[in-house]
Amino acid sequence: MELNTIESHGIGAAAEHSAGTDRTAKKVFVKTYGCQMNVYDSQRMTDALVADGYVATDAVEDADLVLLNTCHIREKAAEKVYSELGRIRDMKAERAVAGRELLIGVAGCVAQAEGAEIIRRAPAVDLVIGPQTYHRLPDVLARVRGGEKIVETEYAVEDKFEHLPQPKRAELARRGVTAFLTVQEGCDKFCTFCVVPYTRGSEVSRPVAQIVAEAERLAEAGVREVTLLGQNVNAWHGVGKNGEEWGLGRLLFRLAEIPGLARLRYTTSHPRDMDDELIAAHRDLPALMPYLHLPVQSGSDRILKAMNRRHTARDYLALIERIRAARTDIAMSGDFIVGFPGETEEDFEATLQLVREVNYASAFSFKYSPRPGTPGAEMDAHVSEAVKDERLQRLQALLLRQQQDFGLSLVGKTIGTLIEKPGRQAGQKVGRSPWLQPVIVDDKAGGIGDIIEVRITRTGYNSLFAELV
Ligand code: SAH
Ligand code: SF4
Ligand code: F3S
Repeated sequence: MELNTIESHGIGAAAEHSAGTDRTAKKVFVKTYGCQMNVYDSQRMTDALVADGYVATDAVEDADLVLLNTCHIREKAAEKVYSELGRIRDMKAERAVAGRELLIGVAGCVAQAEGAEIIRRAPAVDLVIGPQTYHRLPDVLARVRGGEKIVETEYAVEDKFEHLPQPKRAELARRGVTAFLTVQEGCDKFCTFCVVPYTRGSEVSRPVAQIVAEAERLAEAGVREVTLLGQNVNAWHGVGKNGEEWGLGRLLFRLAEIPGLARLRYTTSHPRDMDDELIAAHRDLPALMPYLHLPVQSGSDRILKAMNRRHTARDYLALIERIRAARTDIAMSGDFIVGFPGETEEDFEATLQLVREVNYASAFSFKYSPRPGTPGAEMDAHVSEAVKDERLQRLQALLLRQQQDFGLSLVGKTIGTLIEKPGRQAGQKVGRSPWLQPVIVDDKAGGIGDIIEVRITRTGYNSLFAELV
């Protein structure tokens, strides 16, 4: 799921609010790598620590605890953690001289994948905690403060979501008018390139009542747009009040009833789990935004098979046709991997051809990165870096053109925009289009949280400029 953003950001600003007047409270700095689920998890870890007496900070130099929430999806993402740990280790050493403690924790997918190996490689680390045990974080920290080093990567038998504290309403409101909500976690698909089934474990769906309660809390705090998260979010399933089986489509209809929630999204979906009810939701539910991230990875059937995606390029194209028949203005997004083992020029051409047929509004593309423990890493005929580079460039040039054309197709049109925050320049606000593009509007256009009609006047590199109608 983008699971696509690989930039990192501190989630600390929450901080001083929950601090009250307690100047002695310990401070935690959380840094997030990887996908949206890590962003969500960082918030939940912060909530758990705040409930335990910590204060969140976005200044690493103030922190008594630094927590890195890590990503293992590609080698580069995983290695970033060690360079960051090097810097924090130096900080810890300086602190020790001054007689003040600094604890270092590693959470997320590198924590789950590498466990104790992290402490062997970076002995300054005090605790390693995997995604399925975040609710135990306060207990683990208590033991760490007692001088133990702890590696907690077992899969918990209890439901972590039931034990993770909810943030205060004011804190939710402070986080803005859009929010993530994890509804499903883990993956049973085992694509041969991917570490996620090993780092997140097998597929688990959160129960309907828990999800509805969390969405209601978000809406009460002023959230207007919720993005449901899952590694295979459309594999989510639950049981309704009368005992009937629910799929994601049904859940979306239920969430759309919550007063205040005007926009719903979900990510990331797998082509094999797009059922009729979910497609019908795109047709019948105005709150469901007309934007769908549906990764395909390759346009070559031979490579799709080697990747264990369990569908063909034709299956994917036929599926998109059905989705577009249900919702004509839907914009497609996808993920691609170039240079999977055995990929020939002809296979790559098939990917370009698929991209031309789909016409994406946005997409993420990556060079294949062999991951330890995955079947792909053991395969023959690895593709050279030079060829991967060259294919990535060609693919990205095509995708960029499609993205720009999509932006240009909106010029002159009137669209609904959710006002999210003040703009970088005075006199501007930034909103979000139904297709996830940032929309720059005049400050007087509306208040934060309003959904207003604007006319698109021109496109920027990644954004749209608009005037009031
Ligand atoms: N669950 C989602 C994707 C999760 S990972 C799905 O099934 O589509 C996000 C994206 O990272 C993937 O879609 C894939 O394009 C990319 N990715 C995953 N493993 C990779 C690897 N070993 N090398 C390069 N890209 C990878
Ligand atoms: Fe990874 Fe495939 Fe699962 Fe997506 S469906 S998380 S790519 S194994
Ligand atoms: Fe997300 Fe990276 Fe883990 S993409 S699920 S944080 S490996």
